Amino acid sequence: MSVNVAGVELRSPVIAASGTFGYGVEFEEIVSLDRIGAFVTKGLSKEPMAGNPTPRIIETPAGMMNAIGLQNMGVRAFVQEKLPKLRQIKGAVTIANVFGYTVEDCIEVIRVLNDAEGIAMYELNASCPNTSHGGMVFGTDPELLKELVTRTKEVSKRPLMIKLSPNVTSIAQMAKVAAEAGADALSLVNTFLSMAIDVETRRPKIANVTAGLSGPAIKPIAVRMVFEAAKAVSIPVVGMGGIVRAEDGIEFMMAGATAVQVGTASYADPRAVENIASGMRRWCGSHQVERVASLTGSVILQ
Ligand SMILES: Cc1cc2nc3c(=O)[nH]c(=O)nc-3n(C[C@H](O)[C@H](O)[C@H](O)COP(=O)(O)O)c2cc1C
Repeated sequence: MSVNVAGVELRSPVIAASGTFGYGVEFEEIVSLDRIGAFVTKGLSKEPMAGNPTPRIIETPAGMMNAIGLQNMGVRAFVQEKLPKLRQIKGAVTIANVFGYTVEDCIEVIRVLNDAEGIAMYELNASCPNTSHGGMVFGTDPELLKELVTRTKEVSKRPLMIKLSPNVTSIAQMAKVAAEAGADALSLVNTFLSMAIDVETRRPKIANVTAGLSGPAIKPIAVRMVFEAAKAVSIPVVGMGGIVRAEDGIEFMMAGATAVQVGTASYADPRAVENIASGMRRWCGSHQVERVASLTGSVILQ
């Protein structure tokens, strides 16, 4: 079941997605962190952030919408308070999710993490607004994305995975830009921009008005995007978006993913990451697949 993502060996291709697994330690009693592929921390910023006002999370018929607003304890508190506990869990693979409102912010977060032990890789969230360029989103402007990846790669002492925004016309173009600028791997998709209105009160259901849609509703779009991104680049692509059962993970791998992440499903079942990985192992067994890694890009097109 092992896969290799940019030089990092994972015992399983199933990773817990950012923002849905806290800082890992909160899940310690429920999930064996040393038995899952890896987990990605909540997004870490230079300073602590309180996030958006509530309500900031709602359920939809096939998923959920969230506008948490990247609430987090800040990178320094993470390194001091959470990382020492994570280091004690032998075999746990920690991927630190990084974001910032400017390239300089992202660089600072990476520098703090560079000095800390116990992190395997960085996942840089490129779906964040860039205030120094008038609030545009890094992940939707090819020039900004190129600058972000080039400059963060220069300082990064660990493999750098770039998490792309799905709110773009051509994911292949953004994937190529990130790869050419030096990304070691790509991950996609983040949530899709969405909105919901309570028709009785005529008010948006989420205080922030718009929110990110995740869960099974986005899966077919996410599979298409992973397929297009994986075709466009030669670096590993980590796929996600609506994975709730083993066959979903297998489908993303066939579309071109080297590994997959599970987010929203952990809200319904905190053991979803483990269960999906066990199911994928069983699927491989019953389909004469010796190594799960051989599934990557194995979709038959004609
Ligand atoms: C409540 C919530 C918080 C999230 N926070 C982050 C975050 O801090 N950084 C990030 O890169 N992605 C974040 N995401 C996006 C997920 O990591 C994932 O890309 C997305 O939800 C799609 O996968 P899923 O359908 O399996 O949930 C968040 C998602 C949810 C539902």
